[in-house]
Amino acid sequence: MAKIFITGIAGFLGSHLADKFLSLGHEVVGVDNLIGGYKNNVPDKAKFIKLDLLNLDELVNVMKGCEIIYHTACTAYEGLSVFSPSLVSKNTFQISVNAFTAAIKVKSKRFIHCSSMARYGTQDITPFTEDMICKPQDPYGIAKYGAELMLKNLSETHGLELVIAVPHNIIGPRQKYDDPFRNVASIMINLMLQGRQPIIYGDGKQMRCFSDINDDIDCLAKFAFSKKAVGEIFNIGPDEEPVKIIQLAETIANTIGFNLDPIFMPGRPREVKYATCSADKIRKYFGYETKMTLRESIVNLVDYIKTNGTKEFSYHLPLEIVSEKTPKTWTKKIF
Ligand SMILES: NC(=O)c1ccc[n+]([C@@H]2O[C@H](COP(=O)([O-])OP(=O)(O)OC[C@H]3O[C@@H](n4cnc5c(N)ncnc54)[C@H](O)[C@@H]3O)[C@@H](O)[C@H]2O)c1
Repeated sequence: MAKIFITGIAGFLGSHLADKFLSLGHEVVGVDNLIGGYKNNVPDKAKFIKLDLLNLDELVNVMKGCEIIYHTACTAYEGLSVFSPSLVSKNTFQISVNAFTAAIKVKSKRFIHCSSMARYGTQDITPFTEDMICKPQDPYGIAKYGAELMLKNLSETHGLELVIAVPHNIIGPRQKYDDPFRNVASIMINLMLQGRQPIIYGDGKQMRCFSDINDDIDCLAKFAFSKKAVGEIFNIGPDEEPVKIIQLAETIANTIGFNLDPIFMPGRPREVKYATCSADKIRKYFGYETKMTLRESIVNLVDYIKTNGTKEFSYHLPLEIVSEKTPKTWTKKIF
């Protein structure tokens, strides 16, 4: 059995990975500074240390003895990154460099880095495949792709095995839903369960594929020990059932039984319109399969938010740049 280290263990992916590895009989140690995520997401059997990954010395101390590192920690705020580039880039790029450096120092065997489909930016063709030339088009995507380049470079020099996972639009229980900056499905559910209309940026025709955490977690976990994963990049998520954001709102409204009349606001700068990822590679390497329909995932997410109660939105992150381009949802705290 191995000792698995998870950064961002109080977050959505991190906590589900912790559960998965504990259920397989491994030991799990995790850190999080709780800037996102919820402390009670962390499974009881995991060892939790509250720590900011910017603190490299302490990170090295707590990582000692861990063979496999899953790096999920991030401020994964794509839209916000346009207006808070300093916060998002340090909590995306710099913390990834720190986590990888610590893993080299403690002689870990393998590092699984969670990147993002934001790496692709806008492409001529969808769905995006892993071999496409990356053209990230916002600070978050640039920081994510920059981190990939840096980690690959360090991996080649220092020999720490690297696997790059590219998740996209995963939904499920434990996702933060009181966050006005991220997680569109959870925001809409939290609003509609309060009897409030969802807000849609632009024309609502942005195209995405949503995936269920239960469909993704097994493949993500396989990256820990499979030899064929080393040095590879894998999109994680389905390429079936692409939906427009307006259709997402309709699916949620139908599930809840809500009379939908969305509020449309101006589009956000630099938002990619058509963004779906090919699952061909992960299907071929690891037998990835979509088992949950969007409707089934939404039902689960609605149940989770109902059980935990709707929440007021918490504007917990600073807007570094406020101009006429900054969404009014954030400057006027409309959510
Ligand atoms: N969920 C998705 O659909 C999705 C899509 C694309 C990419 N990703 C990537 O997967 C990873 C996990 O995403 P998630 O949805 O679980 O996010 P999340 O926000 O739920 O979890 C990330 C966790 O990282 C922690 N964190 C942030 N900065 C930190 C720091 N400096 N020190 C310590 N902890 C810090 C946060 O507190 C949070 O708990 C991220 O890297 C994200 O970019 C996720």
